[in-house]
Amino acid sequence: MDSTLFFLTLTISVSSVPWLVLATATSCDFPAIFNFGDSNSDTGGLSAVYGQAPPPNGETFFHKPAGRYSDGRLVIDFMAERLGLPYLSAYLDAVGSNFTHGANFATAGSTIRPQNTTFQQTGYSPISLNIQFYEFNDFHRRSQTYRNQGGVFEKLLPKEEFFSRALYTFDIGQNDLTAGYFLNMSGDQVRAYVPDLMNQFKTIIQYVYDQGGRSFWIHNTGPVACLPYILDRLPITAGQVDHIGCVGPVNDVAKYFNTKLNETVVELRKQFPLAAITYVDVYSVKYTLISKAKELGFVEPLKACCGPGGKYNYNVKVGCGWKGVVDGREVEGTSCKDPTVKINWDGIHYTEAANKWVFDQIVGGAFSDPPVPLAMACHRQ
Ligand SMILES: *[C@@H]1O[C@H](CO)[C@@H](O)[C@H](O)[C@H]1NC(C)=O
Ligand SMILES: *[C@@H]1O[C@H](CO)[C@@H](O)[C@H](O)[C@H]1NC(C)=O
Ligand SMILES: *[C@@H]1O[C@H](CO)[C@@H](O)[C@H](O)[C@H]1NC(C)=O
Ligand SMILES: *[C@@H]1O[C@H](CO)[C@@H](O)[C@H](O)[C@H]1NC(C)=O
Repeated sequence: MDSTLFFLTLTISVSSVPWLVLATATSCDFPAIFNFGDSNSDTGGLSAVYGQAPPPNGETFFHKPAGRYSDGRLVIDFMAERLGLPYLSAYLDAVGSNFTHGANFATAGSTIRPQNTTFQQTGYSPISLNIQFYEFNDFHRRSQTYRNQGGVFEKLLPKEEFFSRALYTFDIGQNDLTAGYFLNMSGDQVRAYVPDLMNQFKTIIQYVYDQGGRSFWIHNTGPVACLPYILDRLPITAGQVDHIGCVGPVNDVAKYFNTKLNETVVELRKQFPLAAITYVDVYSVKYTLISKAKELGFVEPLKACCGPGGKYNYNVKVGCGWKGVVDGREVEGTSCKDPTVKINWDGIHYTEAANKWVFDQIVGGAFSDPPVPLAMACHRQ
């Protein structure tokens, strides 16, 4: 858009209808995405380190395992598509990666706080958010050293200017909450460490800001207590189950986390007036999807598509794509007939169809604060 025209549009809208300002703002043309998170946005990190997510993961879209815990694309993939960028390579993937338009530091099982248990003990990734930042920091510095050598590096690594113009995306926290529950903590005990999670999260945003990051897109945490792995593994009493079958008190802790996250974002905006920080209420979108599954064309919202059978088609000992023995019987975690009508993929993660639905709700800004569309998330309110 011609800059005079843009200024005119802006002036008219400011004086007449202020809320139009955002609508008439130009697209940010994000040249890159740098993502931090857990399995909700892991495009290959954990697979690179601990072995590939086995088939049938990836069956719907990639037609083979693709480092994602889903039958297809994740919300972060739909975001990259919409911004006209390639899918993000996992930073930890040593072979076949292309980082010209960003990098993904997320790994499945990641937490904000480093855990005091090993991956073998509890399945939480050692690549916690602080480690993801160390990786990013190293990537930023080394990518430029190599890019300056020219040749193939120019076709594999981002330009320096991309770091300030990129969209920095975050989706992390779910595992910090479940880690406490799986250690048999009470809801109050989990709540008690949420402020510590917020402090550590805030520190990482500060570090990224110090490296030039200005546009942040932060997902809150989903209704984890609607997922089979929680329904199956936590001791639940009938009185705790809400009208759609989720565990009310556990989701309340997720909501508490989100309230604190929102407060943290408000503080960060004050601290960094030059940053555009968008808070995205993914919780509400996912809860609506699960509670209105039928109206939206989905079936059995609380039952996994890929699993070894049972009430929720989930068993902690036999994951999607694995074989094992349950109650003396050999079972296999196999896919359902039609993942496109299912919400839950493997008991923990969402199907591509569900991810697409979630993406469609959030991309325009309807669940964001401020209500900016994805492509305009560099504009401060
Ligand atoms: C791990 O242990 C340290 C030292 O006791 C403690 O400060 C930290 O909060 C613990 N982390 C978690 C996730 O429990
Ligand atoms: C990496 O991806 C970019 C953008 O898609 C492309 O232009 C570039 O050629 C790719 N690099 C290599 C080495 O294939
Ligand atoms: C939590 O409690 C269950 C049931 O009492 C027990 O089997 C499990 O070992 C406990 N887990 C931890 C980490 O203490
Ligand atoms: C976040 O907090 C602010 C300030 O308290 C409030 O106005 C806003 O509605 C909250 N946003 C969400 C999504 O909860």
